[in-house]
Amino acid sequence: MKKKWNMKKAGVLLLAVLMTLGITLTLAGCGGDNQSVSTAEDTVGEQANAAGNGSTAAVVRVHTKGVKPKKGGTSNNQIGSREVDISGIDPNKPMIALTFDDGPGRGTEKILQVLQENDAKATFFELGSKIKEHPELSKKLADAGMQMASHTYSHPDLTTLSDAEIAKQYEKTDKAMEQATGLKPAALRPPYGSLDEHVQSKTPYPMILWSIDTLDWSSRDAKAICNEVYNANPEDGDILLFHDIYDSTAEAIETLVPYFKEKGYQMVTVEQMFAVKEKKLKNGNFYYNA
Ligand code: NI
Repeated sequence: MKKKWNMKKAGVLLLAVLMTLGITLTLAGCGGDNQSVSTAEDTVGEQANAAGNGSTAAVVRVHTKGVKPKKGGTSNNQIGSREVDISGIDPNKPMIALTFDDGPGRGTEKILQVLQENDAKATFFELGSKIKEHPELSKKLADAGMQMASHTYSHPDLTTLSDAEIAKQYEKTDKAMEQATGLKPAALRPPYGSLDEHVQSKTPYPMILWSIDTLDWSSRDAKAICNEVYNANPEDGDILLFHDIYDSTAEAIETLVPYFKEKGYQMVTVEQMFAVKEKKLKNGNFYYNA
């Protein structure tokens, strides 16, 4: 779904573009073994202040990459009472979480196929309204062991909603997902990464943001998406933001998933990554990485 724009976001994107232009890029396109040049820290002050346990947020809106909040957390292999299957994951090897928003949509099936071919898992933050349109796609994802999560019903900025409206967004999505897959979402990604203390207090899920924005929603170009990922130089614990509603994203995933596998990254769900790293996810708190 189209992202909202305001001056601040435009400024952040402009900054990111300028920084990208500032480094020498001779990357050979999507398919190459073109390991990246690290960019400077793209940390935005507001995010850095809010990062960590997410308990003292002002309004947070994130559309940038490279946010590196301090890491923390305590031991727990569960989210609430939910058991997380972490069999086959080596805690001593690097892992990343690929995440897909706004679907299910036109890229979902292809992305699922690539994930399965490479023994990879991912997390899908779905819109309740899209689950209603494509329940069979949600079912396929759930049956394949992907983490099913909520991105609200109709993609509002939650900070503009009343208590009742927030609750309705969550409940309708829970219901649509449960009807389609038999599962309830155990995590939320707030649309636009927008949240505040009010939203936090009304949210009965951990809120998962991201540490690397692939800008797929902006570029709509597979090569650009791949280069964005290579430049971000993902590290152990990173959460990558994609959208499974674009053909260009699916095309990029066909390159990126084998690339990560080749590089020795384990591609796991968000809940698996936190469980393996023994970091607890708390309802109402928000997280950029693990
Ligand atoms: Ni979205």
